[in-house]
Amino acid sequence: MSTLSVKAISSLHAEFSVPGDKSISHRAAIFGGLSNGTCEISNFLPSEDCLNTLKAMRSLGAKFDVLEELEGYGPTRLRIHGRSMKLSAPEAPIDCGNSGTGMRLLAGLLAGQDFTSELFGDASLSSRPMGRITKPLEEMGARLETLGEKTGCAPLKIHGGKLQSITYEMPVASAQVKSAVLLAGMFADGITTVIQPSTTRDHTERMLQAFRVSIRTDGSKITMPGRQVPESCDFDVPGDISSAAFWLVAAAAMDGSRLLLKDVGLNPTRTAILKVLGRMGAKITEVVHSTDGEPVGNIELHGAQLKGTTLLPEEIPNLIDEIPVIAVAAALAEGPTHIRNARELRVKETDRITTTVENLRKMGVDVEEFEDGMTVHGGKNLKGAYLESHGDHRIAMAFAIAGLFANGETIIHGTDCINTSYPGFAHHLDAIRHERTRPEDFTLPTIEK
Ligand code: S3P
Repeated sequence: MSTLSVKAISSLHAEFSVPGDKSISHRAAIFGGLSNGTCEISNFLPSEDCLNTLKAMRSLGAKFDVLEELEGYGPTRLRIHGRSMKLSAPEAPIDCGNSGTGMRLLAGLLAGQDFTSELFGDASLSSRPMGRITKPLEEMGARLETLGEKTGCAPLKIHGGKLQSITYEMPVASAQVKSAVLLAGMFADGITTVIQPSTTRDHTERMLQAFRVSIRTDGSKITMPGRQVPESCDFDVPGDISSAAFWLVAAAAMDGSRLLLKDVGLNPTRTAILKVLGRMGAKITEVVHSTDGEPVGNIELHGAQLKGTTLLPEEIPNLIDEIPVIAVAAALAEGPTHIRNARELRVKETDRITTTVENLRKMGVDVEEFEDGMTVHGGKNLKGAYLESHGDHRIAMAFAIAGLFANGETIIHGTDCINTSYPGFAHHLDAIRHERTRPEDFTLPTIEK
């Protein structure tokens, strides 16, 4: 099992780009594979999660050619051959690895096929709730069996069939559930409607529009007529703001620092972290330079002595993946930070309330745990510690950032999981730890095929 060892730094002045967005890469592989021609996808995220989705699409008949790859990881530029909505039965059960997004989106897609298929994943994924997707997909006419040891959990056996559109009012604010229902709706007769309790990331809706699928959003309501074939198009995946978040927090909490992150996705359903760090005292400028489908731009941030804040209930779905690292920012801020209404964190790759609180306490932070969040009382010096990632990529990376501020050495056990979302994180961390400043120090090696 690999580990990361981190020590404190005294300055951070850097300029670089983070790898492609995970949510968008999953969707590009899926919609590209459903489209009516070839799609070239650039800056695809070659992380384990997205590669599993790409391979899943291949096992359903949508082949891809690798045009460029990140050395040691996988494709960053590829051409996918769409199947005009006609998929073939896979020869074997499909491995979704660690990815909730992969499994839930593929389940939506498979619900509308005229064959039976099976999705499975690792131990973490096999303990996450699938009832949130099996319920609407069964209402649409598919039959789904949850075969896991834990009730309502994967493996999933999906008996696809002829689907009827539904109007589905989601009980939880989840982009994965919304996307699973919309994907099934693409194979259903009639108009599918999804009503969200609050706004969640809208990459599915934006990408469907880019593929010329007619879809409408009206406040919390999304409507889409079924049986439209996506028109193939090329797609350039922006940098992942959830990966950028680690460096944004590191720079925000270091008075006198300057960070410029280039070509990051600035979709407003994902940028709540910028508002939070701004309220905490960081000086942030966002410059959007392209709005074709997804807004993309540069983020410039100057650090400060941070102060505590309260996360607003409506911000939670738009920064759900960033909460572990926001909790680290909170530990480095003066005064309390209140994080509530975030019960969903308990059903992520780990129970992120427990794993974040446990690691903060090991570093000497005073933190109160609640069923739906935590209050972090920041301002004390962090102490270096031996920490466990519990196999959760965002916990591993959030506490690597904490280690940059701690007295003594911080060792994080179980860091292989970082490859599920951020190949190259260790390289970027190394450049930051050695206080390197040039963009080329952060460039990850790619190979033309
Ligand atoms: C994702 C949605 C979020 C997020 C996950 C990616 C997506 O999950 O936590 O990392 O790509 O749709 P929920 O939609 O379940 O909140």
